[in-house]
Order: sequence, then C-alpha cells, then structure tokens
Amino acid sequence: MRIILYLGKGGVGKTTTSAATALRCAQLGYRTLIASTDIAHSLADSLGTELESTPKEVSPNLWAQEISVVADIHRYWADIQGFASSIISSGSINRVVADELSSFPGMDEIVSLLHINKQAKDGKFDVVVVDAAPTGETIRLLTMPDTFKWYASHFLNMGEARMARMIKPFAGRIIKGSTELLEVLERLDAGTTELRNTLGNPDITSYRVVVQPEKMIVREAQRAVSYLGLFSYPVDSIMINRVLKADADEGEFYQTLYNNQQKYMDYIEDSFQPIPLWTAPFYSHEVVGLDALKQLADDCFGDSDPSNIFYRGQLQEITEEPDGSFKLTLPLPFVSGGDIKLRKRGDELFITVGNFKREMILPTVLAKRKTRSGKLVNGQLEIEFVDMEPEPAAAD
Ligand SMILES: Nc1ncnc2c1ncn2[C@@H]1O[C@H](COP(=O)(O)OP(=O)(O)OP(=O)(O)O)[C@@H](O)[C@H]1O
Ligand SMILES: [Mg+2]
Repeated sequence: MRIILYLGKGGVGKTTTSAATALRCAQLGYRTLIASTDIAHSLADSLGTELESTPKEVSPNLWAQEISVVADIHRYWADIQGFASSIISSGSINRVVADELSSFPGMDEIVSLLHINKQAKDGKFDVVVVDAAPTGETIRLLTMPDTFKWYASHFLNMGEARMARMIKPFAGRIIKGSTELLEVLERLDAGTTELRNTLGNPDITSYRVVVQPEKMIVREAQRAVSYLGLFSYPVDSIMINRVLKADADEGEFYQTLYNNQQKYMDYIEDSFQPIPLWTAPFYSHEVVGLDALKQLADDCFGDSDPSNIFYRGQLQEITEEPDGSFKLTLPLPFVSGGDIKLRKRGDELFITVGNFKREMILPTVLAKRKTRSGKLVNGQLEIEFVDMEPEPAAAD
C-alpha cells in the first residue's frame, strides 16, 4: 500500500500531476484511488468527468473522489474545540492563546486524512494519490495530528475525577459526562496516532513537491520541504512542471523565458539535492482529460513506476544540544568540501560550501537564533544555532 501526496504553491499543477500519477499507476495494474482533499476541488475538471464524495471508477483500475466532510463530523469537532478552549483558559494560559490554540484550522482536512487512512487500512487500493490544497493549508493539515495528540494526551492524563469537575458546566450541553468524553478522546487519540504513523512512514507515504522554475514558487517549495522535514514527513521527489524546451527557432520573448527558467533549474537542483527531480514539459494546451494526463505521465516518468519510493532518508534534522544551542543537520552527500560560509537574514539561510550554494527557509525555532558554526561531517552539514542575545558569560 502506498500513499503519494503532492503539494506546492497554488496553480503549479498539483491536481494535474496527481491525476497523471494516478492514471499511470492504474495503467500499471495497481488498484488506484485519487482523492482530492482541497475544498476547492478541481479534480473532476482535470479528469474530465463528474465526481462524487465516494470513490467512482473513472478508468480501468482508477477510482476518484472529491472528499467532502459530512456536517455531523464537523459539528462533533466543534464541540471538542469549544470544550478544549474552556479547559485551557481555566488554567494558566490566557484567553487569546487558548482561543488560538483551539481554533484547529484545517480540521475538515484532518477528517479527510482520517478517511484516507481508513481507505489505506481497508486494503481496497494499492495506491492512494492525494490531491491536496496549496502548501500553507496542507502543511497546517499535516501538523494537525501532532497538535491534536498534544490536546488528547493533556486531557487523557488529567484523570477522570478532575475531568468530571472541569466539564461540569458543559455536561449535558456538549457531552453527557466525563466517561463519554474519555471514550471519544481515546478513540480519536488512537485514530490520530495511527494516522500520524501512516503519514510519517516512508514505506507507505511519500510527499512530492510540485514547482515551476520561478523564484516565488521555488521559495515556497523550500519552505514546504523544510517543514516536512521538521515533522519527519518523507519527501521522495520534486516535480518540476511547465519546463520549456530549448528551441532556437522561437523568438526573443521565448528565449528570455527559457533562459530565466534555466537559471532556476540550476537553483532547484542545488536547493533540493539529494532529492530526485522529475520534469514535465510546458504544453501549449491545457492538461485535461485522460489522454493529456497520460501524455504528461509518459513525458515526466518515462518508463519509471511512479508508485516507487525514489528517495529515503532524513532531509534535515534539528536537535537541541545540552548547552541550549540547536543543531541543524543537512545531508549534502555530493558536496566534497571547501570553505563553509553561512549568511542568515530573517528566516533565510544562505549556505556556501566551496562552489556549492544553497538558500533555505528556516523553521521558526532556528529563524529566531543566529548561526555559530558550520562543519561538514561524513557528507552532512552541521550548523549550530545559538540565541541572538549573547549569554552573560559569552559576552566578555
Ligand atoms: N505542464 C503543463 N503544461 C500546460 N498546462 C498545464 C501544465 N500543468 C498544468 N497545466 C494547467 O494549469 C492549470 C492549473 O493546474 P492544476 O489545477 O493542476 O494546478 P494546482 O496546483 O492543482 O492548482 P490549485 O492550487 O488551484 O489546486 C490547469 O488548467 C492545467 O491544465
Ligand atoms: Mg489543485
């Protein structure tokens, strides 16, 4: 069983690439499901057929669905959410923080994911391809299981007596009592744990970031890869979509576009190494319908099986050291050495090792610190981050 999730900036070609991947998998003989979790569904348009909220066979071995979250699940979450907010605000955290924490953005989407997990468990499909919403929302969605688990463990550790006292004002209105709440939480906690394990298991799930050779899009992809790494979600390739071919017969406008893309092709290679890259051409037609999707899969994957796992291994690791500093470790197996130069500006980090250059977007925990040192150890670059304010002992 494989789950492949495509993410990337709005409009880069996530739906198209997901559909092309799913079609190729189906044609290779895998029972394949493509499921859209984007609330603004466009999968039906891409496949050129009507879709529903349950899987519909659209081609041999290929089922498609546009998941819609049923109102009662929605309502159920709203209750838990209200409850969480009240409990937290009765403690030491202030109201604003409590509200912020309990607003659970993307909750409809976690329900979609639980749904996909169920499909995976049922074993009806060999491959499930997820057509997700643009990056920001999807990253929030992927952090949901961890956030939820935090809540669940908080409540579950509280003990029934304390919980009974706390929910007294709500009992009857929201849920019948603490026993029922415990049951609900335990069930959700178990479901979320399983979901998190599935989504983080590199033997099952692969994340692929779709980009175009353009600055803003690549930057968003860097951010996505950084966050996926932070949560240990396995990225196995990068899909570069809408790549222009060299064509000397075309005019100046085309040549300028082409040259500009080439500049970013190099940049993409440096930015994501060692993750493998796929490229898909820029067609003069829209890529809709099964024939066009098949062509894209052929042009992009060649003879490869897109359900394979193309890369294994951590892309970055952040560890807290005993002295309170943080260490960022990046695998750079193809970089042989040279002077290491680090330049940080806000959440951007510019790394130069000899003639290798990489620009990356840092997660918040590192963005608010400064770099202290960088060294190459066994094909990995280790960068140390320390607090911006020097410690009194280090100040003199
Ligand atoms: N390689 C390509 N060449 C030409 N057109 C393309 C290519 N890839 C995608 N398109 C077209 O670009 C449009 C947007 O693609 P798509 O819907 O797949 O993007 P998306 O990333 O899913 O967008 P959204 O963020 O809105 O979900 C579609 O009309 C699609 O047909
Ligand atoms: Mg889409």
